[in-house]
Amino acid sequence: MKRFWLGFCAAIVLLVAAGVVAPFTGVFNVAASVPHSALERWYLTTTMTHSVRSRAAGITVPGNISEEDIRHGFAQYRNSCVYCHGAPGVDATDWAQALQPEPPYLADAVPARQPAELFWIVRNGIKMTAMPAFGHHLNDRDIWGVVGFIRQLPGMSDETYAHLVEEADRAPPTRQPSN
Ligand code: HEC
Repeated sequence: MKRFWLGFCAAIVLLVAAGVVAPFTGVFNVAASVPHSALERWYLTTTMTHSVRSRAAGITVPGNISEEDIRHGFAQYRNSCVYCHGAPGVDATDWAQALQPEPPYLADAVPARQPAELFWIVRNGIKMTAMPAFGHHLNDRDIWGVVGFIRQLPGMSDETYAHLVEEADRAPPTRQPSN
C-alpha cells in the first residue's frame, strides 16, 4: 500500500512538473489556423458552460424587456455583433470565420442558454475566445435590450431581419448605442 501511495505521489509530481515545463517547450501550437482538437473543444466548452451557469445563477431577469429596448438591442447587434455572429441573410465577415473558436451563429446557439446566461455572456465576455465583455461600455439596460433581441433570432426570416435594417435606416433609434 505504501508503495502505491509513493508511486501515486510521484506521478502527481511528474504531471505538475510537465504542466509547468510545457509552456517553455513550444509544444503547444497556438495557431488559430489549426482548429481545436475534439478534446480541447470539449474541455473549453464544458468549462465555459458550467462557469457561465454558476455565475448567472444570481442574476434577476427583468419581467419584461420593452420594445424600445429591444430596438436599441438590435441597433447594438448591428453595430457590434453581426460581424462575428452573422444574422438571418447576413454572413459573418471572412476574418470572423477565421477565429478559433469560430463565433457560433446565434440563432442556433441562443435556445440552449437561459436569458440570465446570455446576459452574463454579453456583459462579461468569454476568456480565451474572441467574445468581448460588452459590460465594459454598455449598461445593464442596453445589455438586456441585446438579450431581448438575440432571443428573437431563432426562427427569424432573412426578410424580417432585412426589414429591421431598412426600418432602422429610415428612423434610427432615438437612444444611440453606447459605443
Ligand atoms: C470579435 C468577435 C465577436 C464579437 C464582436 C461578438 N462575439 Fe459573441 N462570441 C464570439 C465567440 C468566438 C464566441 C464563442 C465562445 C466559445 O466558444 O466559448 C462567442 C459567443 C457568444 C455567445 C454564446 C454562444 C453560445 O455558445 O451559447 C453569445 C450569446 C454571444 N457571443 C453574443 C454576442 C453578442 C450579443 C455580441 C454583440 C453585442 C457579440 N457576441 C459580439 C465572438 C464575438
